[in-house]
This record gives sequence, C-alpha cells and structure tokens, in this order.
Amino acid sequence: MEENMQLIRKTLKKYSQEHLLNGYDKLPETKQKQLLEQIEHTDFELINSLYNKTKEKAEISESEITPIEYWDKSKIKGEYKEFQETGEKAIRNGKLAVVTMAGGQGTRLGHIGPKGTYKLNLEIGEKYLFEILVDSLKEIKQKYGVTIPWYVMTSRENNNQTKEFLEKHNYFGYPSKDIKLFMQGELPLISTEGKILLDKDGCIKEASDGNGGIYEAINKNGILADMKQKGVEWISVGGIDNVLLNIADPILIGLTIKQNNLIGSKSVVKANAQEKVGVFGKVNGKTKVIEYTELPKEMAEKVDENGNLIFGDANILNHLFNIKVLEDLSNVKLPYHTALKKASYLDEENNYIEPVEPNAYKFETFIFDAFERYENMTVLRVKREEEFAPVKNATGVDSPETARALYKAFHGIN
Ligand code: UD1
Repeated sequence: MEENMQLIRKTLKKYSQEHLLNGYDKLPETKQKQLLEQIEHTDFELINSLYNKTKEKAEISESEITPIEYWDKSKIKGEYKEFQETGEKAIRNGKLAVVTMAGGQGTRLGHIGPKGTYKLNLEIGEKYLFEILVDSLKEIKQKYGVTIPWYVMTSRENNNQTKEFLEKHNYFGYPSKDIKLFMQGELPLISTEGKILLDKDGCIKEASDGNGGIYEAINKNGILADMKQKGVEWISVGGIDNVLLNIADPILIGLTIKQNNLIGSKSVVKANAQEKVGVFGKVNGKTKVIEYTELPKEMAEKVDENGNLIFGDANILNHLFNIKVLEDLSNVKLPYHTALKKASYLDEENNYIEPVEPNAYKFETFIFDAFERYENMTVLRVKREEEFAPVKNATGVDSPETARALYKAFHGIN
C-alpha cells in the first residue's frame, strides 16, 4: 500500500497534480479508495497534451472546405421506390438496431436529471422524451413486424437514474429484453491553469467524454458483440432530444446501401447563419461536420448568388452506420475538442467554489469526426418540419415550445 502511494505521489509530481492528495487524509475510507482508483486510471500524458492544445485555435480555415453533394429526399423521383424497398427489406429482416445517445447533461434546458426524463407538455397530455422515442420503436414494430434492438448510451452520472426511470415506466411498453443500457467514458475537468479539478466529495471531477465516446463504449460494453449475435448490419444512431427523430428511415438506409457507402446521415437546411448546429462540408474531398463552435462567423454567414447559405446543411444527429464502421472504430482515438465551461470545484484550501465565469476545460470527442475516415458517405437532406424538432433551451429557439408546435403539426394534433 505504502509503495503504491509512493508511486502515485511520484506520478502526480511528474505532472504537477500533487494537489489531488491535499485533502486525502481527511476523506472517508471509501472516498480515499475512489480517489486513488481515479488517479490510477487517469491518463496524465493525455491530459497534459490536451491542456497544451487548449492554446491552439480550433477554427477551420475557409480555404480547406468546400460544399458537399447531398440527396434531397423530396426531390428523389424514379429511384425512390427502389431505395424504399431496399431499406424496408433491411428493416423487415432484422438488420437494423437503434442507438440513442443519452449520456449528455442537458444543462442548457435547465432540467435536473437525464434529458430523456424531461416531460414535454403537448397540451393534449404530456410525454417524456424517452417515451416519444419508444413510440417510434413501437410504430416500427407494428409496421414491419420486427422488434428493433434498442441500445441507450448513458454516462456514469445518469446511468442509474436512467435505468430506474425506464424500469419504473415499464420501458413504456417496449420489451425489456430488447433494450440495453451502456455507459460511455469520462475524462477529468481541468482548470485554465491545467490543474485537474476535485469535486465536492474530494474525488476527481469527471465529465462524459463527448458523444464520440460511443465507438469505444459500444465495444467495451459488449454491445457490438450483442449486435453481431443478433445479425444486425445497420445501426441508426440519434440524439435524445429531437422529438421528430426518424429512427428507421428506409430511404436513408436504401440510399446508403445503393451508394455502396458505410455511413449515411441526414441534414436539414440551416434556419439562419447563427443557428447552433454543426454543418456539413468537404475537407480534402471527404465529408465532415464542422461544429458550430468551430465554424468561423464569415463562413457561417457566406451565401451563394441566390442568398442561400453555402454551408447550409445542418447536422441533425441522425446517423446511420454499417456495423463494419463500429468494428473499425472501436479502438480508434478520435480528436478531442475543447470547451470552456463553468464547473464548481474544491480549491486547495478545501473551499467549495461555484464560479460565475467559465473556469474549466472539458474535452470531448464528436461522433461525426469518424466520417472523414471514409472515402464517401451519403447525406440525405430532409424537411425540418418532418424530422427536426430539438429540445435544447428552456425558452426561445429549440425549446419545449418550438418542439411542441412542430410535434403537434407533424402528428396532426390540434
Ligand atoms: C449536437 C451536434 C450538432 C448538431 C446538433 C443538432 C455533436 C457533437 N453536435 O449539438 O452538430 O447540429 O446536435 O441538434 O453531435 N451526448 C452524449 N454524451 C456526451 C455528450 C452528448 O451521449 O458526452 C449526447 C446528448 O445526450 C445528445 C447528443 O449527444 O443526445 C447531442 O449532444 P448535445 O450536447 O445536446 O449537442 P449539441 O450541442 O446540441
């Protein structure tokens, strides 16, 4: 034990993180154990290099990027039926699985608890975000006569609550044997001086490692193996907060298959230059998404001769992957993106500080950073009013109010 402690102190010294053990002696035994385990699992080399990168500017330069080619769903004519038949065949034959990414925090919405447990008031009644997703799964079951395996990605922070919530609601009537929850990874938060932050309980303050954590998590938690065993070939991956998410679109599946691509994704026309959405673009001939936090203002505002935004195809977090992609990527490290956030922490004198200004770096990988690893992918542009009604903010744009209106219009509810 003493030897182990010496080793830990040596590592902390090497990376100038000795403060992590400042309050160690006063911690209860369970927390001491937890803290030491966290330290042992921390990749200090990675944290160091991520901190050094915070000084670099992540924005992409305009010369590198060109607009994408896409298919407009409403304009597909002759081939529509062929795509539909191909996609429907895959669904009917049990080749499709659905993954819901629900590891995020939903801080912007101001909801306490996993985002999927948010209840949307539809005026004619209320529905939880998870329930709306299950409605879609049940609809597919009814239409195609298959029960789609449903996988929900959670984080350490919200896994138990998510599990309890779904159990309490009896999985909204979906067969529990076809549902699996799996947890994504985490990374420590660090101060702007590069120090790893401690949380209220004296342990390292960690946060989910972004929705790009899905690839590693799917492999580590046996989900990939489960999919293979079930004969799944295509995986539809979506977010938790879009109440019009189309999780099993035969057109996207059929088109991606017909184009011989391994990845498909959907876009909608960006509402305005300021909308907080990632946009599709081509870099070095490969399709990728440039996140709104990294898109320079001039590029976001650039229009063509008709006044349309040049980078106007918004990512709606509705992706389709062939299982080969998940196999390929299970051990691949995606790049980390840095965000400056407000994070409460224990200072060196053991005071719990709740900052008013952003004070901590959070590192995240993005699911779409895998796209550019493939020569080609399919992008299907769809209609916003049919497929994109996100609940992101408490009020204003992309809020419960806008999502409710879009949901009601789409489902013909007065
Ligand atoms: C996301 C997209 C953005 C897109 C927008 C559309 C990414 C990185 N960004 O932005 O390009 O235009 O949605 O609505 O995909 N999540 C996890 N684990 C995490 C972080 C997030 O599972 O560690 C999940 C969330 O639960 C959510 C989804 O990923 O379902 C998106 O996360 P969120 O933080 O809401 O992304 P946005 O900033 O809205």
